Amino acid sequence: MSSWSEIRKSVLERIKPSRAEEITLKEVGDQVVERINSILKKARIRGVAEIHGSVPHGTWITGQMDLDIFVVLNTYRERGQLSEVLDALREHTDWEFTEAWAEHPYLQTEIGGYNLDIVPCFRARTGDRIMSATDRSPLHTKWLKKNLNEKGDDVRLLKQFLKVIEIYGAEIKVGGFSGYLCELLVIKHGSFMGVIDAASMWGEKEVIRFKEETREFNDPLVVYDPVDSLRNVASALREEPYHRFISAAKAFKENPSERFFTFDETPVDVDELIEKIGERSLVFVVIEESKAEVPDTLWGQLRRSVGAIEKQLIIQGFDVVESTVWSNEKTRHIFAYMLVSINRTEMDKHFGPPVHLEKDVKKFLEVYTDNPRVVSGPEIENNRWFVVLYREHTLVKDTLDKLLSDGGARIGISKGIAVRILQHHRILMGKSIGPYLIEGFERQLAKFIRGRPFWVE
Ligand code: UTP
Ligand code: MN
Repeated sequence: MSSWSEIRKSVLERIKPSRAEEITLKEVGDQVVERINSILKKARIRGVAEIHGSVPHGTWITGQMDLDIFVVLNTYRERGQLSEVLDALREHTDWEFTEAWAEHPYLQTEIGGYNLDIVPCFRARTGDRIMSATDRSPLHTKWLKKNLNEKGDDVRLLKQFLKVIEIYGAEIKVGGFSGYLCELLVIKHGSFMGVIDAASMWGEKEVIRFKEETREFNDPLVVYDPVDSLRNVASALREEPYHRFISAAKAFKENPSERFFTFDETPVDVDELIEKIGERSLVFVVIEESKAEVPDTLWGQLRRSVGAIEKQLIIQGFDVVESTVWSNEKTRHIFAYMLVSINRTEMDKHFGPPVHLEKDVKKFLEVYTDNPRVVSGPEIENNRWFVVLYREHTLVKDTLDKLLSDGGARIGISKGIAVRILQHHRILMGKSIGPYLIEGFERQLAKFIRGRPFWVE
């Protein structure tokens, strides 16, 4: 077992950007900023381009080719100003843009291998009412400049740790810790190890303040934004990633190792995986249909839909152990369910009303006397009538076929997914998923089947 200071040094050697990388990144940033500023002038838009996010904060991890460019407008009149900025950029450049409008309009483009997010926002001062969701970013950079000091490397360590345990990022797909949240945690607790120490003692709920705050939030982790008391910086963090972090922090404290900062890249043995699939009760819904959607929107729909199907399976008498959803975010989405058994019982004991509810009893008896589905009953148990019914189908595949025959919007599958299901879906049992064990799904499924996080040994 190596000491923390040895691990720290070795990890930073891998994840800390070189001076040369920093210089190029900033040069590219400066050029783009200059270009955008001249366009703003031409278009008579009163505002200025600035770089925010992890590059100016000094907290990005080497190899990351992302730049967060904000076009900060001087004064707010109406939200439409945000689109005007984007229109001007489209008009005056030949950059190829992807529009990524999840909640806020912004553009993405690639220049010389760098991914640029270009985000319009309004100039705000600390304490102002925020006009658009991204107005806080310039204030964050300013606040961090005063408070982060020399702790950028500790933020990098925390980000890498969270990436390896797959809970870095506030996007819906992950529901984890944003970069800014990492920065605040390191400032609050002084260092990476400070955060680990604190997190290993977090309870069901945790609240972190930088000054006195009053607003209440109903999230597992509440970290008040020092530049906006109305904002919980950890609002995107879901219950499960929160608890995963606590568990990993405890394990790391007990046994610090470089494994927590190292991605598992050993290739998945697909033959072995297929064998394991065969030993379990797994059923898959494969949806193959392309329809462009912003990742956050798509993942919101996927999460809702996989849950809606799970709920129906349970209602219909299947014992679902766990479910997961995978997507290449374009053409293929796969829902996976692990069941206690792919069959359900052939009989269902179905209870009716208590004996004294005359009207209801009458109806119950009308329906179930001489009903071909009834195997036994109606009969009284304690104070209630019941019947034993035959189940139409006992295989999960048949149940799913029926549930999805109309796309499934009726059972809570989101419309966007239901449309795709109607166009093309397949229900696959166990090993027949074989041909789809590609593109990273094989790794996710291997983890899903294994179930155990790497730090539990
Ligand atoms: P990014 O998502 O690019 O994160 O947000 P980052 O801090 O630069 O970290 P990297 O890119 O993963 O290294 C850029 C800025 O947007 C705001 C913050 O101001 C952040 O600095 N932001 C983003 C939030 O406040 N909350 C979020 O959930 C996401
Ligand atoms: Mn960033």
